[in-house]
Amino acid sequence: MKIDDEFTILRVQENGKRLIYLDNAATTQHPRSVLDRVVRYYTQDNANPHRGVYDLAQRATDAHETARKRVARFINAKRSEEVVFTQNCSEALNLVAVGYGMEHIGEGDEIVVAVSEHHSSMVPWQRVAKAKGAVIRYLYPDKNGRYTEKEIREKITPETRVVAIAHISNVLGIVNPVRLIAEYAHKAGAIVVLDCAQSISHIRVDVQELDVDLAAFSGHKMYAPMGVGVLYGRSDLLRSMEPMLCGGDMISEVHEGSYSWADVPRRFETGTRNVGGEVGLEAAIDFVERIGRDRIAEHEERLMEIALAGMRKLDHIDIYGGDEGRKGVISFNVRDVHPHDVATLMDSEGIALRAGHHCAQPLMEYLGIGSCCRISLAVYNTEDDIRTFLGVLSEVRRWMGLGS
Ligand code: ALA
Repeated sequence: MKIDDEFTILRVQENGKRLIYLDNAATTQHPRSVLDRVVRYYTQDNANPHRGVYDLAQRATDAHETARKRVARFINAKRSEEVVFTQNCSEALNLVAVGYGMEHIGEGDEIVVAVSEHHSSMVPWQRVAKAKGAVIRYLYPDKNGRYTEKEIREKITPETRVVAIAHISNVLGIVNPVRLIAEYAHKAGAIVVLDCAQSISHIRVDVQELDVDLAAFSGHKMYAPMGVGVLYGRSDLLRSMEPMLCGGDMISEVHEGSYSWADVPRRFETGTRNVGGEVGLEAAIDFVERIGRDRIAEHEERLMEIALAGMRKLDHIDIYGGDEGRKGVISFNVRDVHPHDVATLMDSEGIALRAGHHCAQPLMEYLGIGSCCRISLAVYNTEDDIRTFLGVLSEVRRWMGLGS
């Protein structure tokens, strides 16, 4: 498979230049195999799953449940019932806060949240803490963006009920010590909720090996369509959770005076599902596995080394987080130039990157900055993309009239 041929959008010209797409942490582009699979579903198998007895509806149900099994295998869940389909990672994380947090957290309980969390992995817990009189304790990274064992040991206490942590921060790009965190959390009797949004397309996510209790990701950050996400949860834990939305298909029985929930995972899948997105996610997993997760990681690693080495050579560039254990993401500022100006200049050269607070305002405050730029990689990026980016980056200050 020639990877370039799979991504037609990469041939689109931006501002008269070849598009260099370096905003993959925000969303990835889609290979033809994924788009074809979605079209095939809608042209051959579409009906409302779990509703009809006719053959077409049965095929839609099969597509929905087969995609679930594929996801379960991909993340090494023990059984497919441990996979809940959501709209995206944010919905999955909110579902945990509402379904677990609002039910099992009480006054004086502690929730440990890494300060580098995306708002979606932090604000739902701030809301639970406010409603329940619980306390949030933040984990702070060292100057290399790492969470040390000392910090983890000090923050996780016998009062801790939940630890919310990203596998990889969407700003710092450093792989967090999830297993170590899980060890401390479980000793304290707490559960670990892992945000895999930024790791799922870059490194292996094995929920059993990581020993996490719940985990969430979005399909669109791993070459699948937007609008489909996943919540993984140990079945016993999922059974202890309440649904966030009530309605069709998530119920076992309803009478005028009573109701009872369906078993997991259906109790969390209210209303008509995004089966087109789910089969697209299945095809995205096929795409990733066809190339090989290790090969993707090696390719991105090489690009990361070239980018970091080139950026470190330039004066006036601040990079957030160290180089070691970094995957997929480099956040930086060009001194004396607003990140939006950097992004606009990059765009004029066909380079798409993100500038802003990256939905991580508490981390920005901790780093003492308002915002920053970020490049983020995917399998289709090339050395040429990185060299072009470095060339433009080396000119930014001069173009802004600041000398070299
Ligand atoms: N969470 C996505 C990002 O980091 C949107 O850009």
